[in-house]
Amino acid sequence: PKVRRAKQFICTISDDRGEEATYAGHPISSVATPDTGFGIGDVISLLWFKKRYPKWATDYIETVMKTVADHGPAVSGAHNCKVTARAGKDVISSLVTGLLTIGPRFGGAIDDAARYFKYANDNGMSPSEFISYMKKEGKPISGIGHRIKSVRNPDLRVSGLKKFAAENFPATPLLDFALEVEKLTTSKKDNLILNVDGTIGILMVDMWRALGYSEEEIDGFIDAGALNAFFVVGRSIGFIGHILDEKRLGMPMYRHPMDDILYNVEKAEEL
Ligand code: ACO
Ligand code: LMR
Repeated sequence: PKVRRAKQFICTISDDRGEEATYAGHPISSVATPDTGFGIGDVISLLWFKKRYPKWATDYIETVMKTVADHGPAVSGAHNCKVTARAGKDVISSLVTGLLTIGPRFGGAIDDAARYFKYANDNGMSPSEFISYMKKEGKPISGIGHRIKSVRNPDLRVSGLKKFAAENFPATPLLDFALEVEKLTTSKKDNLILNVDGTIGILMVDMWRALGYSEEEIDGFIDAGALNAFFVVGRSIGFIGHILDEKRLGMPMYRHPMDDILYNVEKAEEL
């Protein structure tokens, strides 16, 4: 009898063995050519979640990607990309230096915002109990706070996402909870708003619940880091823009002004 060799890799998302490769069973030509009704949101839902989502959900995904594509040259990631491009490095090298800044403070708070707000909501915490819980954990609340945006200088990206959800989502229970939390945090400090990372992550949970996923499946997406991935793909568009901008402008190598550095070096102690 024929002995089957154990496979070293398993793939459940795409198949390139036939005449034409498929994305979760859909031939690329049926996805990629105009007028077949597939947008980039559909490509993501097929390749990341192996399902074809309804239009309101793929429109949400696309709205997220467009919303996070760039936020100017001064933010951590764009800054790194610009410095690296000016050191003469190629697009890929420059891009990854920007991507590496995406994390708990910048752009990569989406998974944790979803995780902690969902945990609070699943366990019936009130908004003030949630704030005390995070304080006890010694953690800033992921998805809350912004360097320059505040109640008086609102983040219109957040307003846009909330408007999209109000008009298109069947319900937004986790967003409603997060907005109650925001009322309390902003009463303490003006800039402790529900930020763009928080809004995206929380609305993804509301989206997945409305699509019929189980709580375990949603927790699995969060644990896998699927939510930060939306920021990674979206912001790559802007990072590449900044890198091409540097190349186009032919900017010289960057050196940080020394008068902007506090030099505070003592002679090393002899041991
Ligand atoms: N939860 C609780 N308290 C907070 C939070 C938070 N998320 N953010 C700031 N604070 C408090 C700080 O404890 C500090 O309090 P203190 O003055 O009593 O010491 C005060 O607010 C100022 O804190 P800073 O860290 O100086 O605030 P800053 O404006 O520099 O930070 C940041 C902005 C990094 C976004 C911060 O709010 C944060 O860590 N938030 C959570 C992570 C997050 O959501 N990041 C995504 C931002 S959106 C994006 O990057 C696309
Ligand atoms: C961003 O989208 O990069 C930000 O919200 C961070 C910032 O400070 O603007």
